[in-house]
Amino acid sequence: MKTVYRIFLVVVIVVFCLVFTISTLPEFSIKFGATGAFEAAACLNLPPNQHVHPVFLAQGPKLEKYPQPIYLPNKTNQSISINCKYLRQKTVIVIHSDINDTNWRDYQRSLVSKDWLNYNNAILYFVVGSRTNITISSENQKYGDILQSDIDETYHNISYKAIFWIKEFSKCEETPNLIIKLDDDVHVDLIGLTFLIQRYSKQDDFIACRVFPHGTVVRNPLSKWYLSKKEYKYNDLGTYCQGMAYLFSGNLLKTFSSNIAKRQILWMDDWYVTRSLVGDQKISYYSLDQHMLSTNSENELKQRLLNLKHKKFRTIFAHFRPSQSYPMDKRKQIWSEIISNNNQCR
Ligand SMILES: *[C@@H]1O[C@H](CO)[C@@H](O)[C@H](O)[C@H]1NC(C)=O
Ligand SMILES: *[C@@H]1O[C@H](CO)[C@@H](O)[C@H](O)[C@H]1NC(C)=O
Ligand SMILES: *[C@@H]1O[C@H](CO)[C@@H](O)[C@H](O)[C@H]1NC(C)=O
Ligand SMILES: *[C@@H]1O[C@H](CO)[C@@H](O)[C@H](O)[C@H]1NC(C)=O
Ligand SMILES: *[C@@H]1O[C@H](CO)[C@@H](O)[C@H](O)[C@H]1NC(C)=O
Repeated sequence: MKTVYRIFLVVVIVVFCLVFTISTLPEFSIKFGATGAFEAAACLNLPPNQHVHPVFLAQGPKLEKYPQPIYLPNKTNQSISINCKYLRQKTVIVIHSDINDTNWRDYQRSLVSKDWLNYNNAILYFVVGSRTNITISSENQKYGDILQSDIDETYHNISYKAIFWIKEFSKCEETPNLIIKLDDDVHVDLIGLTFLIQRYSKQDDFIACRVFPHGTVVRNPLSKWYLSKKEYKYNDLGTYCQGMAYLFSGNLLKTFSSNIAKRQILWMDDWYVTRSLVGDQKISYYSLDQHMLSTNSENELKQRLLNLKHKKFRTIFAHFRPSQSYPMDKRKQIWSEIISNNNQCR
């Protein structure tokens, strides 16, 4: 009888705390005039206050220590330096960018405007690698937003790019509140991103993303995702985030940084950061699946676009692949259709 009573008491307390927390969450608010060039939406189609994104806890095989990174990337002399005093209580947006993708950087700068950044107390950085014959000095003189590491800009080197910015940001004594990592071919919905910043910038120990609860290991050597046993020995990747867009609490920067020497590296940078470098830290993975659109063929995109009208919430992040099927004009046009769908009342 006593146990039953105790359990009942615990349940009552938990429910009370939950209701209290939810009822004290600030209402989502956005001043359209202050956030740049997008028009007011007829409907926001954002989750209500009491909505919690689905939570996953880390599962999967033990995390190994080896293989370790074979070098630590350094800043080049054309890179900007991070000004630590600007990071305090900010949201930092980190975009993995290919050094030669000036067009994409220009597109993203035009979207994530200075006004929008100020309104959201956010800073934007591009992180690029190196190629001997490409310089970014003049771009940096103009915009001052490119961090450059001295690693070769290749697909299998992207985890080193992640090590680079994690190390650079965690050198600062005070970390930002929130870090948002994007790939450079990702389109973002600014109303939705403002919502996520307001919802998530006051929490510790979480990553919000499209969660893979049990990532599958591809052993077919012909696949782009092929992993040898030497690179990764288990048959389950465990819980991690898709890399196109993820948000994590600022307190995890130091965790990631200190785990670089303790956990194995893998060229899959999303797995490396959102699983391996998390290490033993107990975190929540919030699923933003309902806000993501990630397609790998034109047919898949067609299907997803047809279903969009039935989606309850805004699409906040999207990428359209294969990239060669979507020249910039076509992408922009598809994305603007998605935005107008985001703004329509259902
Ligand atoms: C970065 O600098 C350190 C120390 O100067 C050096 O040991 C390391 O090899 C450098 N990294 C690369 C990729 O050259
Ligand atoms: C930067 O380093 C490169 C070699 O890595 C050198 O050629 C160049 O002159 C340096 N630039 C400046 C501004 O120091
Ligand atoms: C830029 O780099 C990508 C691969 O990273 C390559 O496919 C493309 O041809 C490069 N473009 C230019 C203009 O060098
Ligand atoms: C750099 O070199 C590569 C091949 O070596 C070439 O394809 C590319 O056009 C060069 N880029 C610039 C900006 O000169
Ligand atoms: C990664 O970059 C390093 C340093 O620039 C280079 O030596 C290495 O070949 C690159 N690795 C891959 C897999 O491209």
